[in-house]
Amino acid sequence: MQLPGTERINEAGHLEIGGCDSLLLAERFETPLYVLDETSIREAASRYIHSFEAEGLPFQVLYASKALCTMAVLQIVHDEGCQFDVVSAGEIYTALAAGIEPNALYFHGNNKTAKELRYAIDTHVGHIVIDNLDELTRLQEILRQRETTMRVLLRVTPGVEAHTHEYVQTGQEDSKFGLDLLSGQAMAAAQRANEDPHLILDGLHCHIGSQIFTLASFELAIEKMAAFAARLQTELGIQIPWLNVGGGFGIRYTEEDRPFTPEAYVHAICQATRHAFTSRHMPVPGVMIEPGRAIVGPAGTTLYRVGVRKEIPGIRTYIAVDGGMGDNIRPALYQARYEALLANRAAEVPQERVSIAGRYCESGDMLVYDAFLPKVHVGDLVAITNTGAYTYSMASNYNRVPRPAMVLVKEGQADLIIERERLESLIAFDRVPQRLRSLSAINAVAG
Ligand code: LLP
Repeated sequence: MQLPGTERINEAGHLEIGGCDSLLLAERFETPLYVLDETSIREAASRYIHSFEAEGLPFQVLYASKALCTMAVLQIVHDEGCQFDVVSAGEIYTALAAGIEPNALYFHGNNKTAKELRYAIDTHVGHIVIDNLDELTRLQEILRQRETTMRVLLRVTPGVEAHTHEYVQTGQEDSKFGLDLLSGQAMAAAQRANEDPHLILDGLHCHIGSQIFTLASFELAIEKMAAFAARLQTELGIQIPWLNVGGGFGIRYTEEDRPFTPEAYVHAICQATRHAFTSRHMPVPGVMIEPGRAIVGPAGTTLYRVGVRKEIPGIRTYIAVDGGMGDNIRPALYQARYEALLANRAAEVPQERVSIAGRYCESGDMLVYDAFLPKVHVGDLVAITNTGAYTYSMASNYNRVPRPAMVLVKEGQADLIIERERLESLIAFDRVPQRLRSLSAINAVAG
């Protein structure tokens, strides 16, 4: 199996991440544990940025915070030169708390509330990405009241949807996101934005999917966006300074995944943009991308302790670990596939097929089916790689299980960046009505 980032098997036969022995990490911080490799995050972010530098177009790399939004992660990515795609007041708040300048934030979302829009305006978020006409109305109203201006991009549904291994053109543009081209919503929004002195139309945005392994889907989307930009120019006299083509760059979860390099994705996007605009005799806009998974996915490894080995002869051997769908919902939700290894006996030859089950009360709580591992014993440490994206950020307290801690590792140093939740934190927001108080007092004493 191919180990991502700085991962290697050390002299003791243990998995080492960022120069830290995973057994020591598990002992010190307990399990389940998210381990995040700082070098891997920095390298991914800087490769996207350097790829653009080689292309010579104005550019911005926006990290899609939804993949993993913690103050430390945002600071690292910012340090590498990224700006940010944020989708809620919570993500804006986290970025501001991390010391990121509000101007570096692009506020996305298909239903931004008036409260969130006001918060974004009052905290001087740099751009709002307008998703639909109702939001535009809401934003115009607030800006009028506040007597202030806002830079905006328009999120357009280009009618291209990329699936994992192919792309399709969705004729009906059936999506909850964005302003669609066919019905004229995108054109109407552009006209309204152009006429409103409170709005500065800085460009267009599209996002065609996630974990994309085809360049053609990006190229087709860019072609459609350029055609729309040409209409804006001829019909409304609007020039588009920026084209944001969204995120979705694939990563290698298992050996079947064959992602392009950052250089290849960026080159294809820049080439397609140059071609689509110059062939229409239009100035080539600056290009933005919004990678999330590709920046943090490979940097994450989750460590779990094996608590149960259950053999059902002729059927399956279940290995139950101390985490699961609460810390990584992706296998249960999307049938996402991961690779696993035994972190404490990483150099041993695999000899059995086992299925790694979570600890949550649901049959679907399976992390990896049919992993090929050395003989697994109770007490072993299982590592699942490439878990940096959409795991912690989608974690829950299902079964009232506290969410795990996260440590950042680099060159042999390990620092806690998310504390493990405690039992008290689980009830921190519970409230008991007065008429039930006597009961809870009795229980509290009993507990
Ligand atoms: N930009 C926009 C507007 C997006 O909606 C997304 C992801 C991204 C950028 C970043 O996409 P990425 O580069 O990370 O693929 N929870 C799912 C993924 C949902 C993606 C939502 N939007 C998963 O675990 O696979």
